[in-house]
Amino acid sequence: MIGSGGREHALLLGLKRDPSVTELHAAPGNAGTAALATNHAVDVASAAAVVALAKEVAADLVVIGPEVPLVLGVADALREAGIDTFGPGAQAAQIEGSKAFAKDVMAAAGVRTARAEIVDNPAELDAALDRFGPTWVVKDDGLAAGKGVVVTPDRAAARAHAADCLENGHPVLLESFLSGPEVSLFCLVDGDTVVPLLPAQDHKRVGDGDAGPNTGGMGAYTPLPWLPQQMVDRIVDEVCKPVAAELVKRGTPFNGLLYAGLAIDDEGPAVVEFNCRFGDPETQGVLELLQTPLGTALAATARGTLADLPALQWYDGAAVVVVLAAENYPGRPRTGDPIAGAGGEGVLHAGTALNEKGEVVSSGGRVLSIVGRGADLKAARAQAYERLAGVKLTGSHFRTDIGKAAEEGRISL
Ligand code: GLY
Repeated sequence: MIGSGGREHALLLGLKRDPSVTELHAAPGNAGTAALATNHAVDVASAAAVVALAKEVAADLVVIGPEVPLVLGVADALREAGIDTFGPGAQAAQIEGSKAFAKDVMAAAGVRTARAEIVDNPAELDAALDRFGPTWVVKDDGLAAGKGVVVTPDRAAARAHAADCLENGHPVLLESFLSGPEVSLFCLVDGDTVVPLLPAQDHKRVGDGDAGPNTGGMGAYTPLPWLPQQMVDRIVDEVCKPVAAELVKRGTPFNGLLYAGLAIDDEGPAVVEFNCRFGDPETQGVLELLQTPLGTALAATARGTLADLPALQWYDGAAVVVVLAAENYPGRPRTGDPIAGAGGEGVLHAGTALNEKGEVVSSGGRVLSIVGRGADLKAARAQAYERLAGVKLTGSHFRTDIGKAAEEGRISL
């Protein structure tokens, strides 16, 4: 397993539960993965280092969690070395790495998405901003882990973010605002074979009631009681399959996890973004409900036999994930504090490390994700928050309303 976040911890937990998996290694991993796997201090952006580690441990399968090594071609290097790998090559990973590439693929595949313009010249910024609004969506056209996106009714704030990106040498993407509830649909993709997982919903804003700035994700729940199966089928047929087919047509087939972030409005699904990997924190919830052995599903995808995999099996009920974030996140987070209760049931690690005394300490913005499961959203929420009450980290914060609007029937299409 390549990566060190909450989704990688969840993936390792899923692999650990698969009886066909005999040994687990993580690079670099975190304090939580150390309890499931052997952690290796390897630079995951270095294809040579990852290939060397995979050879050293005689890996049967390498699963790449984060987008950075994928965009850098680490999956290509592993495949060239003859190692089965779950994760797209550098070219297909551009679906996340470059918003402009994603727009081009969607246009060619006839997939509905927001109207967009790329601005790379500061002199053109004001005129371009005038062509958007009254809600502005400004995206850094590069990898920014969700934090490069500003959605605001305040033109000055939109302008400031765009100017910031341009000053740092990054083009910006201005987009029309898509209304309607958001859905994250993850699909296992092997060429043009597309197998959806359960739909989930992230909570991107830092505060209750969707207040405050965007984050990498403060919590999630799955499945979505307000989303009919027919709409999931439409997402697969109108979005995921055409994009997978377009990448095959371009000679750069996608192999791994295609994450479609969508808004659903009166006309149906429209794409907000694609990611080339499992999403965080939705993964922690979705995998909690997956009954099919995870290693079998990932290996079938990596080996090009996804079409032969029996239909995925799921546990009944719901899962809720609440992220515990460090003080000041999504700004520069406070780190290095000891965490009490980090080994509790359902507590998955993201920004954690072991200090020299072997204690679990915070090391990033999103520190832990706490997973609850139950017969319905109410029960899953109750379990997640009960488990969270057993965790203590100085200055930390979390949202108290993850999955609440859905539980109370306040989301509809
Ligand atoms: N859930 C947002 C992300 O993984 O980027």
